[in-house]
Amino acid sequence: MKKKLLGALLSVAMVASLLAGCSGSAPAADDANATQAEAPVSDSAEAEAPAPAADGSKIGISMPTQSLERWNRDGAYLDEQFRAAGYETVLTYSDNDAGKQVNDIQNMLADGVNLLVVAAIDGEALNTVMDEAAEAGVPVIAYDRLIMNDAVSYYVSFDNYTVGTLQGQFVVDQLDLDNAGDKVYNIEFTAGDPADNNAGYFYQGAVDVLQPYIDAGTLNVVSGQTDFDSVATAQWSTDTALERAQNILSSYYADGTQLDVWVCSNDSTALGVAQAITSDYAGSNTVLITGQDGDEANLKNVVDGIQTMTVYKNVSNESIVTLALAQAMLNGEEIGESLIPSFGIDCAFDTESYETSAGHKCPSFLLVPSVITKDNLQELVDTGLYTMDDDGYLHAVQ
Ligand code: GAL
Repeated sequence: MKKKLLGALLSVAMVASLLAGCSGSAPAADDANATQAEAPVSDSAEAEAPAPAADGSKIGISMPTQSLERWNRDGAYLDEQFRAAGYETVLTYSDNDAGKQVNDIQNMLADGVNLLVVAAIDGEALNTVMDEAAEAGVPVIAYDRLIMNDAVSYYVSFDNYTVGTLQGQFVVDQLDLDNAGDKVYNIEFTAGDPADNNAGYFYQGAVDVLQPYIDAGTLNVVSGQTDFDSVATAQWSTDTALERAQNILSSYYADGTQLDVWVCSNDSTALGVAQAITSDYAGSNTVLITGQDGDEANLKNVVDGIQTMTVYKNVSNESIVTLALAQAMLNGEEIGESLIPSFGIDCAFDTESYETSAGHKCPSFLLVPSVITKDNLQELVDTGLYTMDDDGYLHAVQ
């Protein structure tokens, strides 16, 4: 009888948290029966002493691919966090195949998961399985990339627009564009995967900072390619970014035109652009190249002066916030700004920026990205997630 009562209470709590999620309505009032989940406050990769899961819940963790470095870390950290907290987990990687991700998530639902954490390959391609999850009363946390479905309960990511503004502002500061006088700097752009809702935010953030300098003629996009579709990179592919950069260099810079800046939205595309510049750019100047993620090969390029900066996102912290949110959801707690102090991680609660459909805003927890250059690599070592070898190169702990 007692177990049935607990099960019933949890069902009520879960439905309450589901309804209080993406509907945009005020979170359900504190459920007197809810227990205060022990949200971990560690800001290192080491999980806190495991807090027993409220009911031995099973968590489905759906990651997009293992071919892009960061997702291996995301998957590992999420799996570690939830298991250390006493949850059973099902972790899948869907090879950047949206159809496979639908199947993987359907299998998780059939496996009886109590909550889903999903980093979408294509934010528009999961409607069927998101609706199936809602019908099954399984809440969904959209992880890092927004899923365009109103059944999604909450979104955990970094402030994606700020990732872009950090890249744009770095260019302004590094070249001192406000004091450029008549000097003109030539610039190109490489954005991310059009299927990834983040890619538009990254690119728009950078362009919004740099557009005034383009309008003033201080920055000149020699290829003329500035609309998102022209600069986008399917699946964030390094090879695709490399090929497009080679085409631009041969078409617009083979006559000795100097290239000064190449804004890349992330490290996998920056790797391709850097390879193209190394092999195909005839100029003798160092090209300012931006990135995002702190991938190992790119951090080596930062040390070697080939890439100038990367925007770092501590995905271990992203997993800690995701666990704390999931615990609160499963325990039927009130979810909002009040949850943030328990994270022990700098984070904002945003109910306006991320729409899953026209006017339907998904409550979001947004962590804070930071700029890494060769001058502050120690900050990455200080996270405990990277080591530095004798040559000054960084290696991810996992
Ligand atoms: C984005 C993610 C970035 C970027 C890209 C490729 O959605 O937020 O970190 O690296 O995917 O993984």
